[in-house]
Amino acid sequence: MTALSPQTIFLKDYAEPHHWVETVHLTFALAPRATRVTSKIVFKPNTNNLGDLILNGEQLSLKSVTVNGATVSYEVTDTHLTVKQADLPSEPFTFEAEVEISPETNTALEGLYMSSGMYCTQCEAEGFRKITYYPDRPDVMAVFTVRVESELPVMLSNGNPQASGTGWTEWHDPWPKPAYLFALVAGELLAHSGTFTTMSGKNVDLNIYVRKGDEDKCAFGMQALIDSMVWDERVYGREYDLDIFNIVAVDDFNMGAMENKGLNIFNSSCVLASPETSTDATFERVEGIIAHEYFHNWTGNRITCRDWFQLCLKEGLTVYRDQMFSGDIRSHAVKRIEEVLQLRARQFREDNGPLAHNVRPESFVEINNFYTATVYEKGAEIIGMLRRLIGDESYYAGCSLYFDRHDGQAVTIEDWIKVFEEVTGRDLAHFAQWYSQAGTPRLTVDEAWNTGTLTLNFAQSTPATPGQDVKKPQVLPIMVGLIAPDGTEVVPSTVLEMTESEQSFSFDGLSERPVASILRDFSAPVILQRDMDAKTRAFLLAHDTDPFNTWEMGRMLAKDTLVEMIVNDIEPARDYLDALKSMVTDETKDPAFRALCLALPSQDDMAQTLFDAGVAPDPMAIYEARENLRHILAAELKDDLPALYAANDAGAFKPDADGSGKRSLRMAVLSLLTLNDQGAAAQSLFETADNMTEQAGALTALLSAGIGQEELASFYAQWFHDRLVMDKWFMMQVAAAAPLDAARIAKTLTEHADFSMKNPNRFRAVFGALAGNHGGFHAPDGAAYKLLADWLIKLDPLNPQTTARMCGAFETWKRYDADRQDMIKSQLKRILATEGLSGDTTEMVSRILNA
Ligand code: TRP
Ligand code: ZN
Repeated sequence: MTALSPQTIFLKDYAEPHHWVETVHLTFALAPRATRVTSKIVFKPNTNNLGDLILNGEQLSLKSVTVNGATVSYEVTDTHLTVKQADLPSEPFTFEAEVEISPETNTALEGLYMSSGMYCTQCEAEGFRKITYYPDRPDVMAVFTVRVESELPVMLSNGNPQASGTGWTEWHDPWPKPAYLFALVAGELLAHSGTFTTMSGKNVDLNIYVRKGDEDKCAFGMQALIDSMVWDERVYGREYDLDIFNIVAVDDFNMGAMENKGLNIFNSSCVLASPETSTDATFERVEGIIAHEYFHNWTGNRITCRDWFQLCLKEGLTVYRDQMFSGDIRSHAVKRIEEVLQLRARQFREDNGPLAHNVRPESFVEINNFYTATVYEKGAEIIGMLRRLIGDESYYAGCSLYFDRHDGQAVTIEDWIKVFEEVTGRDLAHFAQWYSQAGTPRLTVDEAWNTGTLTLNFAQSTPATPGQDVKKPQVLPIMVGLIAPDGTEVVPSTVLEMTESEQSFSFDGLSERPVASILRDFSAPVILQRDMDAKTRAFLLAHDTDPFNTWEMGRMLAKDTLVEMIVNDIEPARDYLDALKSMVTDETKDPAFRALCLALPSQDDMAQTLFDAGVAPDPMAIYEARENLRHILAAELKDDLPALYAANDAGAFKPDADGSGKRSLRMAVLSLLTLNDQGAAAQSLFETADNMTEQAGALTALLSAGIGQEELASFYAQWFHDRLVMDKWFMMQVAAAAPLDAARIAKTLTEHADFSMKNPNRFRAVFGALAGNHGGFHAPDGAAYKLLADWLIKLDPLNPQTTARMCGAFETWKRYDADRQDMIKSQLKRILATEGLSGDTTEMVSRILNA
């Protein structure tokens, strides 16, 4: 096969297809290396844009084609099948084709493939074209009927089951959908079943299908699904719309999960959970992802995207919805801090490097490369800002109008914005610029006090990003509150709407000069640059009523402290240590919140902070300072740690907010305690823990202190049979390695019998952890750069999508010194020079290099 020459696609070139599809009938005769796919598609010429019938198709072995039952002349390339308009009827016609595909040898995990003996599909974004010839674009929505033939006991597709017999099953999905939502699963699977009655009284069968041995890891996911269904009815008035909702757990999966209509397919790591094998973080992730995929039923499936440039239309909104759901059933304060930590770690990192792009990109080569933190997380922040600006009532009114007006359609960001313009009567054109301007705005503020009036003078600017040199001011909702010197709040939270480059807001009638709490709840995704002394930060940390800013003040103190330690070799300030101590030991505060306060900024965060301040970050110095600070905190809190550790024993394991909050504080405490007691407490917890949160927490504490090799071996002996726990075993060792050991440990692990690059979870366990171990990845000898590049080159021919995604490890190269830049550049060039490199990886590496 000839290599596909990558082509750039532009938003501005969008045109409707030449043909719409009315109905699709597919028959799959499953066989590992020769699956027969027979298609019968009713096409209707699009009178707005008449032309040839253009179908996508890749890696298909074509057996036959007919139109209205007769042979027809057509042209086939590596990527398309075309029938000339002149050879087609002008009325609707039936196109039939037969192709053969080979799921067993499909290691890209896109299209129809096999995982642990089961057949499964992944079609988003453009995988359906590897199944059969079809207009594989989201604006073509059709009703699908699917027949699956095999000897396997479970055969699933979208929609409702319609008929079955020995060796076959038929499914019918009454809701028109684009091909990217098609799914098929067949295998020896067991169902964990449940039921749900919708608000209008319809019964829905719920199933989570898993491989034998995983049945006891489904109950939590099932409850999360039911909670999600209830929540979408209660909060958005959206009801489920089929008789059945199936989820399938698959071991080999490129991403987290996929919202196929009525048949969600999950990476098994994102749906299976049990106390013995899963950490609290996993439970929380499972809950969030189940909700996310379920919520797509309305935001994504019933209303979908006109083209892939509109990806944020479904992803940003659905992330926003799953975030609100998680906040509702856990804690909004804790959830918001976790969201901001993620946003800064992933999206700000992306937005401030060579891969920065608009939330709605204007061009792409490979759409898979745009399933990014910017589209998802920044996309969600835009929804949050919109809601803050127009208020809850208008927000929900706009959403209802959106659902009513666009149900069954493939739409654009303009359609989304328009419903809010209509319900509010406001012009949202300036606000919508958030979709078309990349980069993270810097917001500065200074304060002026004049006899009873406090004036906040704001200025904003956004640095240039690739291809966008000139930036305009964004619309920023800035939530502010004022605290009097005695600690009482004199002005409660209000949202200031900043639209200019520079803008001032005044508060008058104040009897004393208050302290301003700015950007409460992180009301806009900006970098707030505000000069504040440690005393003022400590004051807000003690008195702010906004939990996000309370935490933020502690974080700023910690960052200032680390910067001073790294750059000037100065000991931590007393204000910081005292503030931290009183926060962590404050029994009136939520343990989850205290755990977040105790966690230090990451090394990567410090690298970005230093770079922003004009200092080339030295990864070794960052690592040393952070370790040093951990020892200082352990010494400072020496007398408190054992008591905190004992007091936060959550007792019998329950994966709820209360229990997980206590455990997260307990594990943060244990990590410091291990520096004082040579690992005694962690070793004993490792032996006795009845849940993975504490077992893995104890092991991580030991490994991070440079001990724990015996425990590591016994962890393996206990869990070698459980692939998801083994992913943790691989990951923990690399994540906790000291900088000079990380690459060597990772390399040794790739030689382990249980390592496999074909399984994305296992590959990510080792290499995601290596890239995430900042000191280790940037060790001075460049060994980690080389090791990662070696393995990306090996993985690319098998799985381009996961390879391309992992290239993001290199996106921060411009931050570092000339030596490191040279080493990274030469590895990137080596990857790019690889013969036959995929379009996915070529695009990513070129973008990273060319900035
Ligand atoms: N739409 C999925 C989600 O956000 C994402 C996804 C799953 C995906 N698998 C994929 C995207 C493969 C691209 C390729 O829930
Ligand atoms: Zn999604």
